[in-house]
Amino acid sequence: MNARFELTGPQTDIASYPRWTQDMVADCADARQAIVSHAMWSAMCAATLDAETTRHFMVGVWPVIERFPGYMSHSLLKTRYGRSPGDDLARRWLVRNIRVEQNHAEYWLNWAESAGVSREEVLGGEPPKGSQALAAWCEDVTRNDSLAAGIAATNYAVEGATGDWSQIVYDSQTYAESLPITGRKAGLRWLQLHAAYDDTHPWEALEIVCTLLGGNPPVDQVEHIRECVRRSYVSMSITLDRCMDGLASVRRLSDQAA
Ligand SMILES: [Fe+2]
Repeated sequence: MNARFELTGPQTDIASYPRWTQDMVADCADARQAIVSHAMWSAMCAATLDAETTRHFMVGVWPVIERFPGYMSHSLLKTRYGRSPGDDLARRWLVRNIRVEQNHAEYWLNWAESAGVSREEVLGGEPPKGSQALAAWCEDVTRNDSLAAGIAATNYAVEGATGDWSQIVYDSQTYAESLPITGRKAGLRWLQLHAAYDDTHPWEALEIVCTLLGGNPPVDQVEHIRECVRRSYVSMSITLDRCMDGLASVRRLSDQAA
């Protein structure tokens, strides 16, 4: 028998969630930790990331930033008002939060610009080879999988891990000071907004997933959600790895035009 889920405590405390959710989060912790301890952030925090890798990062991650409201709209299309408490919760949350994402693409461009990567380069540059693992996965899971799987993979896992690394970089005074003083505040805005301190979005997403699946869903459903969350973390690590590799196949926009 699957029990209906309701939060039993603070939304931002994993103990308030069903046993299966706590186990899922624990099972995926190693993959999430691999993102948090990625060399990208230590290089940013030490202000030692070279210009080429900075460009790879800004251009390679951009498609996920640009498409994020699109992923959420794929999820929104799957909801049916009145079908279940989970559908209603997801629908209300998605409608509200697609709007919240409105300015985030612009803030990413500001960050890139501040870090020395032009808007034209981000919009038109070719991403590093293999760096589109995360974008392709987010597109696929939100288009083709269940509502719960898509929200778990993107709004819980991708936003959650992004909160972790954004906080690491945003906390670094050395990084902040490596950006030109002019435009620095605007340049740091994206990181500031996504740093985990106050960002409750991933927790809200987790609550939606639990409301959709219930307190005790079938084993195969739990296993599937776990797979999707882990795959988001692994795809994010692959994307970061490929941005870090600095593959020679990457051409600058200016080279393409030549
Ligand atoms: Fe965002």
